[in-house]
Amino acid sequence: MIDIFLLSSSPERASHIVSRIEASGVAYRLRRAYGSAGQICVHKQAITRSSVLIVDDAELVARELDGVEEMLACVPALRCVLIAPAPSDALRGAARRVGVQQVLAWPNETDELVSLLLRLDARQRMSERMSARPSGRIVSFVSPKGGSGTTLIAVNFAQALAASRNRRVLLIDLSRQSADAGLFLATKPSPQTLADLDVPVEQLDARLLEACVMRIQANFHVLTGPRDPLDGAARLQPAQVERVLALARKRYDAVIVDPGSGTDLDASALRAVAVSDSVSMVMQQNPLYLQGARRLLDSLGAQGHAAGTVRMVVNRYDRQARIDLPTLERTLGAKVAHCLPRDDKHADAALGLAVPLVKCAADSALAQGIRLLADILWQPGAGRRETSIVQRNECGL
Ligand SMILES: Nc1ncnc2c1ncn2[C@@H]1O[C@H](COP(=O)(O)OP(=O)(O)O)[C@@H](O)[C@H]1O
Ligand SMILES: [Mg+2]
Repeated sequence: MIDIFLLSSSPERASHIVSRIEASGVAYRLRRAYGSAGQICVHKQAITRSSVLIVDDAELVARELDGVEEMLACVPALRCVLIAPAPSDALRGAARRVGVQQVLAWPNETDELVSLLLRLDARQRMSERMSARPSGRIVSFVSPKGGSGTTLIAVNFAQALAASRNRRVLLIDLSRQSADAGLFLATKPSPQTLADLDVPVEQLDARLLEACVMRIQANFHVLTGPRDPLDGAARLQPAQVERVLALARKRYDAVIVDPGSGTDLDASALRAVAVSDSVSMVMQQNPLYLQGARRLLDSLGAQGHAAGTVRMVVNRYDRQARIDLPTLERTLGAKVAHCLPRDDKHADAALGLAVPLVKCAADSALAQGIRLLADILWQPGAGRRETSIVQRNECGL
C-alpha cells in the first residue's frame, strides 16, 4: 500500500492526477489538499505519515522549494514528485538538490507518474519481503568511468569491515569488463567464479553460493567475476543477481558489491544497485567523470536512488584541482561524503602483494581514509537518505 499526499493548486488538475494514480493499478491511500507549494508546511503532520508526496503547482519556482526541502529532511523515506506546466532547468536543478525524486511537466509527462508508482510499489514489496527475515546490508560502489579506484575502495572497505571478527563479509565482483577484485586479494585465481552460479534461479541456493566463494579469511569471502570477460554466456541475468544477493543477505552481515563502471553497468549490475541499502559513487575531479556522473545519477534516480541519497566519494582528492568540491557538488546536486588521498606507493605495493592495503599499509593515509569511510557507511542507521547530513571528511589531507 502506497501512502500518497497530493498538494495541488487546482482541483481540476488534482482530479486528473488522481486518475493517473488510479491508472497505475497500485494499491494506494490518498490524502489531498489544495494550495501552493509555499503552504506545504501546514500539512506537515499528514505528510509525515505518507511515503509519496506529489506537489502540483502551476506557479512553482525554484526559490519556493524551502518547504519541500524541510519535508524531505523530516521524513527521510519520503519520495517527492513535483508537477509544473513547463519546469525550467533552474527548477529541475534546485529540485534535484533538495532531494526531489522527479519533476514532471504538466500535462505531457504525467504518464511518468504511473511508471514511478509502479517502480515504488515493486521496491516496497521487495523491501517488505527482505525485512521479513534478519538480513545483512548491501553496499554498492559505482563509478561513472573505469580507473577511478572503485575496486580498490570496495575491496579495502570489505576488508576493513571484516576486521571486526564477529562480522561476516562477502565481496561480489559483478564488473563485466574488468572483473579484477580477486587480484587485489589473492595471488591465485578462485577455482569457482560467478559464472558457476549461472543456473536456473530456482536452483540457486545457499549451498551453491557457499561452494562458489573464495575464502580470504574465516569471515571474509569473495565471489569473483568470470575469468574471461568476453564470455557473455557467463554473465548472470538480473533475476539471478537478485537471487544471489537475497541469499547472500541471509548469510552475511555485509555484502559489498563492485558492479563496475560506466558502460559496464548493464541491467544485471543496475539490479544489484537497485536492491542495495547504500550506494556510493567513486569520483575524480575531472570533467570526464563529471559528465558521466550526471548520466549515472539520472539512471540511478530512475531506480529510486535520488541524487541526495547517493554518497559521493572523491578518490585521489586534489586540493588544488580546478574542479573543487563545491563545484562538484553544485554540478551534480549531491553532497561529497568523503575524500580519499592519492597514494601510488602503497596502492601499487598492495596490488603487487595481492594484500588489501588496509592490512599491509594499515597506517597509510589512504588506509585510514577507507577505514573512516567504513565507519561512516556502517554507522547505525546509515540509511539511504543520509548523505546530506554526513559530515564531509577529507581524511589525512
Ligand atoms: N587513491 C589511490 N591512490 C593511488 N592509486 C590508486 C588509488 N585508488 C586506486 N588506485 C589504483 O588505480 C588503479 C585503478 O583502480 P581500480 O580500483 O581498479 O579502479 P576501477 O575499479 O574504478 O576501474 C589500480 O592500480 C589501483 O591500485
Ligand atoms: Mg574495477
